[in-house]
Amino acid sequence: MLPQLNGKSYPKEVCLNGIWQKPEEAKISVFDRGFMLGDSLYEVIPFYDGKVFALKEHLSRLKYCLQEISLDFDVEMLIPYIEDSVRRSDNAGKDAAVYLQVSRGAAPRSHFFPERSEPIFLLYSFPVNLSGFENKHWKLLISEDIRWHRCDIKTTSYLANTMLNDKSYKLGLNETLLVKEGMITEGSHSTAFFVKDKIIFTHPEGHQILSGITRKIVLDLCQNLGLEIREEAFPFSEIENADEVFLTGTTTQIMAISEIQFQDNILFQAVESGPITRKLQEAFIQKTRNP
Ligand SMILES: Cc1ncc(COP(=O)(O)O)c(C=O)c1O
Repeated sequence: MLPQLNGKSYPKEVCLNGIWQKPEEAKISVFDRGFMLGDSLYEVIPFYDGKVFALKEHLSRLKYCLQEISLDFDVEMLIPYIEDSVRRSDNAGKDAAVYLQVSRGAAPRSHFFPERSEPIFLLYSFPVNLSGFENKHWKLLISEDIRWHRCDIKTTSYLANTMLNDKSYKLGLNETLLVKEGMITEGSHSTAFFVKDKIIFTHPEGHQILSGITRKIVLDLCQNLGLEIREEAFPFSEIENADEVFLTGTTTQIMAISEIQFQDNILFQAVESGPITRKLQEAFIQKTRNP
């Protein structure tokens, strides 16, 4: 049995190319392009009380990313494995998530895509507590967005994201908010929303952000609740004037922000979740728990 690290444990079993095995027995080639070049994609799919949520949306984003990197792979064949992964783990009937990765596979190392390779997929389920997020809040650090120009591709090449996230982790904060040319793009692993004068702002879709599945769900909820939302980037200089800030993500869900730090200054502070954040959190709980 592999040991725990930082309070996180390895799953008992992983599914590599459709074969369930112990993680210490699962093997990939040293020439796997995901390992060598980051030539691979991933998704994290949530399960609420054992039931999969927004599977179609996650698979359609994976399909889009596969097209963008010219990788031919049938995402539909993953469905039984995704469902099985929770059923055959200790997470059956509980809140959980499935980590799923597709790599181009092994080929002699080259900068161009090889004519032929056998893509490989890996997936496993892990426990995650998806309840009580509405009673929590996060503190953020602001940093320059040093990532590449195709942040819409959910690649496993997350070195820049992890470097940025590690900065806030080292300071005992929860997430790093990214700024590009004076505008907030998103978090290192989350989508950012700002509320000012009852209007909600979030960065438009495109190459500068990942099109978050939770982002889309929140946009729909805003429409249903009659909340005004603008898909416009929020300026860094306006953070001090924001009324509410929240982040979204598959396991982050809708997280209220209580503090934003930049260098040695605190730009934003809130003692409790704002009314719009709370309204959206309530609607989100309703949607995920009673679909
Ligand atoms: C950079 C980035 N933005 C946004 C998100 C949120 O996306 P989703 O709501 O699909 O989890 C993630 C999730 O991993 C992310 O890595």
